[in-house]
Amino acid sequence: MLIKVLGAAAGGGFPQWNCNGRMSARVRRGEAGLKARTQSSLTVSSNGRDWVLLNASPDLRQQINDTPELWPAADGPLRNSPIKAAVLTNGDVDHIIGLINLREGQPFSVYASERVMGTLNANSVFNVLNPDKVQRITLGLNTATALAGADGDIGITVEAFDVPGKVALYLEDASKGGSFGTQVGDTIGLKVTDSATGKSFYYIPGCADVDEALAKRVRGADLVMFDGTLYTDDEMVVQGLMPKTGARMGHISMSGADGSIAAFADLEVKRKVFVHINNSNPALDDNSPERKAVEEAGWEVGFDGMEIRL
Ligand code: MLT
Ligand code: MN
Repeated sequence: MLIKVLGAAAGGGFPQWNCNGRMSARVRRGEAGLKARTQSSLTVSSNGRDWVLLNASPDLRQQINDTPELWPAADGPLRNSPIKAAVLTNGDVDHIIGLINLREGQPFSVYASERVMGTLNANSVFNVLNPDKVQRITLGLNTATALAGADGDIGITVEAFDVPGKVALYLEDASKGGSFGTQVGDTIGLKVTDSATGKSFYYIPGCADVDEALAKRVRGADLVMFDGTLYTDDEMVVQGLMPKTGARMGHISMSGADGSIAAFADLEVKRKVFVHINNSNPALDDNSPERKAVEEAGWEVGFDGMEIRL
């Protein structure tokens, strides 16, 4: 199985279009050690021919253009694409808007939890994906689903599971108190398995907490690609970017006693890669003390174009 990171940044990307904060400003200036990153998405293939998108970011058009594996086969029909399916892990703008780029009548399948599928179904703009050609398939939780494109099986199985998180920002219901109306299925993780080899990895780009169930699930895994939104919970507040903490946005931070680095310390995961990294996160700087701490703890910081073969 080949995994490619299409975009390693969180919502807004790195740099973010309207952000003059210190990290975005530095990457825009081209400072050494800082690499631009597009918004959150991976692609994965078992056979090298059929590809699955894990989330569909607003930068998908650019990501496809930057990734030859996702181009139409040059010797294929006038219209063709190796993208056979897209699996969504929540309803956030950075994870669903790329679907709009996949209009033009190409058949493929969209997989999402019942909650996220409800959001797509409630927004008629997604009907630009011709419902006669683009199948919407609701993913059950805690059960393995073999992904299929219009031409059948593509050799990848996913198991979706609920993780601690928050309903998408634009769906928050303030009348529901601190949960904002979050329900099961609003944020899922995926166990992605190559049907041919049985190798698997976990993709969890949004997560508010590594609770006991999640820790048990990922213990001993070959690879986890995990929510790396913030380094410290209040970094956006401290940098003057906005008044929200990571916890308020439904994201665990990397550092601290309650952070992901501490939570994974004893889980014996063989390879740990942060994805969905916010433009405020100092670990984006190759030369920062925060990057050093992340790497010393056995984590890698994902980047666009990163390839992992399992
Ligand atoms: C998030 O990951 O919290 C969201 O993508 C934030 C947003 O919608 O901008
Ligand atoms: Mn996001």
